[in-house]
Amino acid sequence: MNTMQLTVDNDVDKMEKYSQAVDLLNNGEVVAFPTETVYGLGAVATDDAAVKKIFAAKGRPSDNPLIVHIGNIEELALYIEEIPEVAKRCMDAFWPGPLTIVMKAKQNVLAPSVTAGLQTVGMRMPDHPVALELLRTLKKPLAAPSANRSGKPSPTKAAHVAEDLAGVIPCILDGGSTGIGLESTVLDVTLEQPVILRPGGVTKEMLEAVIGFVLEPNLEEQKIESTPKAPGMKYTHYAPNAPVYLIEQEPQIIAQAVLQLQQEGHRVALLAPTPFCDLKANFFFTFGDESNVEQMGAVLYDALRACDKTDATIILATSTELQGVGVAIMNRLEKAAGGKWYK
Ligand code: TXA
Ligand code: MG
Repeated sequence: MNTMQLTVDNDVDKMEKYSQAVDLLNNGEVVAFPTETVYGLGAVATDDAAVKKIFAAKGRPSDNPLIVHIGNIEELALYIEEIPEVAKRCMDAFWPGPLTIVMKAKQNVLAPSVTAGLQTVGMRMPDHPVALELLRTLKKPLAAPSANRSGKPSPTKAAHVAEDLAGVIPCILDGGSTGIGLESTVLDVTLEQPVILRPGGVTKEMLEAVIGFVLEPNLEEQKIESTPKAPGMKYTHYAPNAPVYLIEQEPQIIAQAVLQLQQEGHRVALLAPTPFCDLKANFFFTFGDESNVEQMGAVLYDALRACDKTDATIILATSTELQGVGVAIMNRLEKAAGGKWYK
């Protein structure tokens, strides 16, 4: 299959490009598009055959449900049985934006593959001009996971989507780099207490300022059977080809680790803040400023993907504080590393 890459950022003929994408979607095809978090791979959420193409293109397990994206808050009532008060307050505060809200789905409206057999569905209104223009031109909901092959880091640039899916999907809308760089926060409001199933750009602190106490199970608590979890969180994620190890943000510890690994015959890729660039790793990819977690979130997946273009045999990634967006960053890094720390 030939993959069209259509640049829509600041393009004078962009309406023509949107209508090409909309025609493909209306014909049961999938289209990749940018959101403010990461690129998504969309299909019309009421078309089961189209939604199945998403799972096939990504190699995604069929028990992992998809998020449904809408272009206007009013559309929500078409898909949700009863919109809880907490959800309304969250939508007022954070939509459009990087917050997915899991609610009870209306029966027999969305394609069965979207919800993967669950009674609930995650809904989100993205805050990106291209995503919103696409949704509002299409006038239908889009089921869309991140537009990467399953297991790989999510795409933050059209080129990342092409790396994974060129030849497999018909169209990528290129709207430049995504801003946040980490997937949306997933909040389940169907339980007694609202629970963060996946941390993201909308933090626990931000949510609690609006709806009061919110549960956020840490990685240890997530191992407990009874902890509410997103079905997708059990799978390997964000993994480059070489093994990733987390390491403390401590120049001496890192310098020593690099030396020891090189003596063992390794080629080391180091992912760390810019001031750590002189520690003699074979490859260095920056996480940006030392104390700017938003910046780190924006470049994290690009840095992980860049390792695959090197012949590094091991990757060291520095940890960050568990504050604000730092929680989401550490969640992704722990997964990329499979929980391994360099000792
Ligand atoms: O920022 C984002 O959320 C991006 C953009 C494209 O919107 N999408 C994204 O989708 O990250 P995906 O499929 O890669 O991740 C969705 C996560 C998965 O872990 C999935 O298991 C969980 O949300 N999820 C979806 N529906 C759910 C539901 N009904 N209950 C619990 N978890 C759900
Ligand atoms: Mg994903």
